[in-house]
Amino acid sequence: MNNFEFKNPTKIIFGKDTIEKLKDEIPANANVLFLYGGGSIKENGIYDQVKAALANVDFTEFGGIPANPEYEILMDALKVIEAKNITYLLAVGGGSVIDGTKFLSAAAVYEGDTPWDILTKNIRTENGMPFGTVLTLPATGSEMNSGAVITRKETREKLAMGGPGLFPKFSILDPEVIKSIPKRQIANGLADAFTHVLEQYMTYSVDAKLQDRFAESILLTLVEIAPPMLKEEFDYKAASSFMWSCTMALNGLIQKGVPTDWAIHAMGHELTALYGIDHARTLAIITESHYKYNFEAKKEKLAQYGERVWNINEGSIDDKAYAAIEKTTAFFKSLGIDTKLSDYTNEYDGTAEEIAKRFTDRGWLGLGEHQSLSPKKVEKIVKMAY
Ligand code: NZQ
Ligand code: ZN
Repeated sequence: MNNFEFKNPTKIIFGKDTIEKLKDEIPANANVLFLYGGGSIKENGIYDQVKAALANVDFTEFGGIPANPEYEILMDALKVIEAKNITYLLAVGGGSVIDGTKFLSAAAVYEGDTPWDILTKNIRTENGMPFGTVLTLPATGSEMNSGAVITRKETREKLAMGGPGLFPKFSILDPEVIKSIPKRQIANGLADAFTHVLEQYMTYSVDAKLQDRFAESILLTLVEIAPPMLKEEFDYKAASSFMWSCTMALNGLIQKGVPTDWAIHAMGHELTALYGIDHARTLAIITESHYKYNFEAKKEKLAQYGERVWNINEGSIDDKAYAAIEKTTAFFKSLGIDTKLSDYTNEYDGTAEEIAKRFTDRGWLGLGEHQSLSPKKVEKIVKMAY
């Protein structure tokens, strides 16, 4: 196992009817900006629950943060923060609203010329404006981590940011919110969380037995609860496991002491930036070709995953590893998620070259657990995903 340090300061409040507890978490005298997305919270009752909990709090609302939170819109929110002397942020939404709020938490205290530099110059935030979250969509783990991904339509960019000052102070996870989520978004959440685990597991062994089994247990849970989550009727038990699995998949725990990959996400973000494809679906597009291209480097771990998650017990390491890749693609398809770029756009010619160029321009010369995936190799992987 590799050396590591681990600190996760986010308080989780989990369970039915817990949204009202947010009134106990927001500091007295806070001047709050309540941030949300396109309006789903007004239809499913979450908005009313949050408003009731804020009855004795000074707050201003800012709605309209879109999926893949957009820089220009967030800059409007930043003006509100400045004009109203906001001191505390409350994100009510999925990964997009929470990530947008993290950007604002960083931008509100940033002293440089333009907050876009936080993304392009990799500026880590040590102490952002404090914020809490009410999660409405399990998927990203953003509710218990310190990372965010921000999109800029004008330049077709999607860039990551983070820092120890960007953990939420608290996050409320009420599985009842899942009732109103469209199945397409449930499928996205399952695929995103599944890939988060894979990115922190499908590398090479450092004999970290507990981390491997943490990872496998999350994968097994997601596989088990996927069918009930996609059924029409709401299943609270499955929803609870779904929600907590998504959080645990990316709150830092399973990646401690082990190598991580994250190349699938790096390539996936470019597909969202270029074509607007949902985040989770971009991961499903890249995964198979990434694992096939890097087969030799990853086959031991692929075979272990095949055995322990998919019960593949026959054949050589190569056979098991190959079958495990096929099972992964079949899992995405069972969620109703297509796994080729051509399923999403007809204009994919040149995509691989464009992504390789972007990585070169940004100086990203070696992605993956061995930092060995050069832009030229990325180009080949993306081409295999057409
Ligand atoms: O905007 P509203 O009206 O709220 O509707 C949203 C949105 O249309 C809807 N929704 C959310 N909760 C709902 C609901 N609809 C009905 N009932 C509810 N309870 O779902 C749609 C998608 O929401 P979004 O927040 O965009 O989805 P998700 O949570 O998948 O977030 C995706 C974003 O997170 C980033 C992605 O890149 C993408 O920008 N990620 C963030 C990460 C992180 N911070 O750690 C890691 C991830 O790998 C990912 O990159
Ligand atoms: Zn993701």
